[in-house]
Amino acid sequence: MNIILLGPPGAGKGTQAQKLVDERGMIQLSTGDMLRAAKTSGTEMGKKVAAVMDAGELVTDEIVIGLIEEKLQGDHGGGFIFDGFPRTLAQADALGALLKAYNTTLDAVIAMEVNDEVLVQRILGRAEEARAAGKEARADDNEESLKVRLMEYYKKTSPLIGYYHAKGQLEWVPGLGAIDEVSAAIAGVLDA
Ligand code: AP5
Repeated sequence: MNIILLGPPGAGKGTQAQKLVDERGMIQLSTGDMLRAAKTSGTEMGKKVAAVMDAGELVTDEIVIGLIEEKLQGDHGGGFIFDGFPRTLAQADALGALLKAYNTTLDAVIAMEVNDEVLVQRILGRAEEARAAGKEARADDNEESLKVRLMEYYKKTSPLIGYYHAKGQLEWVPGLGAIDEVSAAIAGVLDA
């Protein structure tokens, strides 16, 4: 089973993906994590995307599609959770073509319903927690970058809701409850 977790920054995509990995043996493909790893290890690509990511803008379709393509060449395990990908219509088209090329399908697109106020609290709260623990906060977890991240989401990613709705693949889950309540709602969709 391959699924997409779709939602704005702070919706809980990464948190829920991790639970699906633990509980169902699925493979999390987070383009955000892959890009941050490239940044930290100082690869050419990492250096190229650093400023764009820190500002909260999207990196190019070409880079993220390349990252996903590489992963699809490996083990498909208990299925993929696409977390933070696709984020543009071009990425969604590319994913469709890639899944077809690897003889697999997309089973569900889970859209996480949240509101901006909670997103801001969660993201700024995460930065606060990191600092309180003596760790470095994510470079894009600040008010200024978050405004850009939200705008990028509404401009470029939210059209995917209509795209997957039209394909009959979209499922909404409430994202505002406690983590376990959100997990239960996702399990309800996956087990239906
Ligand atoms: P990415 O890493 O994907 O970041 P994001 O989408 O902004 O998402 P977050 O990781 O902040 O939020 P999330 O929805 O995963 O929530 P989380 O579970 O972490 O992307 C970062 C950057 O990389 C982008 O801005 C862009 O530059 C680049 N990029 C990545 N993919 C790209 C692509 N495809 N194309 C182009 N560029 C790309 O939770 C957030 C916080 O909330 C945590 O503290 C968590 O503990 C808490 N929380 C979660 N769920 C709950 C809950 N139910 N109740 C209370 N708290 C909760």
